[in-house]
Amino acid sequence: MVKAMQRSLAAAAVLGALGATLYAPGAATAAGKADPMIAGGKYLVTIAGCNDCHTPGYAESEGKTPEKDWLTGDILGWRGPWGTTYPVNLRLYMQRMTEAQWVKAAHALKARPPMPAVNVRAMKDQDLKAIYRYIKHLGPAGNEAPIYLPPDKTPNPPFVQFPRLPK
Ligand code: HEC
Repeated sequence: MVKAMQRSLAAAAVLGALGATLYAPGAATAAGKADPMIAGGKYLVTIAGCNDCHTPGYAESEGKTPEKDWLTGDILGWRGPWGTTYPVNLRLYMQRMTEAQWVKAAHALKARPPMPAVNVRAMKDQDLKAIYRYIKHLGPAGNEAPIYLPPDKTPNPPFVQFPRLPK
């Protein structure tokens, strides 16, 4: 446990060093005072696929969306037997809670498909904190995503229609 934490701290430190040269935004970063967990959070967000749904056009552009637009939510609806869901704007979402509140909420996260809530619930506190710090570091941006529609409501385009799976 301690070993694993040391390892992830070391990884975060390495990422932090990389991040300091990669990040233009944030004077604190330029001054070399960056929290190494911020770069670790960027790494986690990237490999966990959060951008694929929460960043407009990210998957189609093969990740070329400018970082300033990451995680701003999407108007692309996901429609299935659960209704129509929209990837929330995480840049605004994180503004509404403290780090401790996020860690608690994330371990009990409930969300409709195709949000992989189970993946977020399984994350370690350290990883959740890193994700929070990264998103907070990016700051608020964009608009709130459209609100959820129940199954009997037809959404406006664009939306992805899931097929009804054979039982
Ligand atoms: C396959 C698409 C997809 C991926 C990948 C995805 N999300 Fe989501 N996410 C959604 C959708 C759609 C919703 C809205 C769900 C709803 O309305 O119930 C959502 C909702 C959320 C919420 C709000 C839950 C709440 O409190 O209502 C959080 C937080 C979140 N996602 C975080 C993440 C993080 C962190 C990642 C990366 C690990 C991620 N998401 C990856 C689609 C996705």
